[in-house]
Amino acid sequence: MNKLIIANWKMNPGSLNEAIELAKGSDIEGLVICPPFIYIEPISKILTHAKLGAQDVFFENPPAGGGPYTGEVSIEELKDLGVSHIIVGHSERRELGETDEVIAKKIKVTLENGIIPVLCVGEKKGDRDVGKEKEVVRKQLEIDLFFVNQISEASESKELIIAYEPLWAISKGDASHPPADPEEVVQMINFIREQIKSYKLNLTTRIIYGGSVNDKNAHEFLGRKEIEGALPGGASLDAEKIKKVVEETKK
Ligand code: 13P
Repeated sequence: MNKLIIANWKMNPGSLNEAIELAKGSDIEGLVICPPFIYIEPISKILTHAKLGAQDVFFENPPAGGGPYTGEVSIEELKDLGVSHIIVGHSERRELGETDEVIAKKIKVTLENGIIPVLCVGEKKGDRDVGKEKEVVRKQLEIDLFFVNQISEASESKELIIAYEPLWAISKGDASHPPADPEEVVQMINFIREQIKSYKLNLTTRIIYGGSVNDKNAHEFLGRKEIEGALPGGASLDAEKIKKVVEETKK
């Protein structure tokens, strides 16, 4: 399995022109670009090598593909624009109140519609300080993947991506030594793999890491066979940096 890099632009950049320039500069094989919703359509016309992703989706799929849900974006609308991957359950959304129960429904609607979900899980610093990081992640997986067993036979999508993103390692800038120790990341990824084995999913599962991955430290993570890709945020806003991260997957 080739390693995969998923660029989470978050709520950036601040203008359409910048978004178009960034997309043009980052349009390479091996990358999935997840811009804000508002830029997905114009960027869909630019990309020829990179794939297109979204950062969220609404959990209901009304029969007409849309419905009375102010401010939400439906799976049909995203499919129509050629989105292949959707980030679900990012910690920044969990912090704003998104629950595991809602995340479970979003995973379901995504898989049922042939889109690959990128489920984000991870503990807070306080959880790790008291040795509860595995318990936290185990509980997240248990609820977030609640429907997956029921739908995996009928699932249109045959792939699930899980991103381990410990909150304390996110947005720690340009450091060449990331806050998360790659060995700790490998241990958690092995734990996640063990957990999902017991779910007997009828899906290919890829487990990746996110948290201050950049051009300088990507090799530390991508050099480990257990880490099957990365989910950079800040570094994905610089085309040269993200291209270097993708190059690390080819070594
Ligand atoms: P940073 O790479 O900026 O730490 O962001 C990671 C992240 O949250 C990606 O989803």
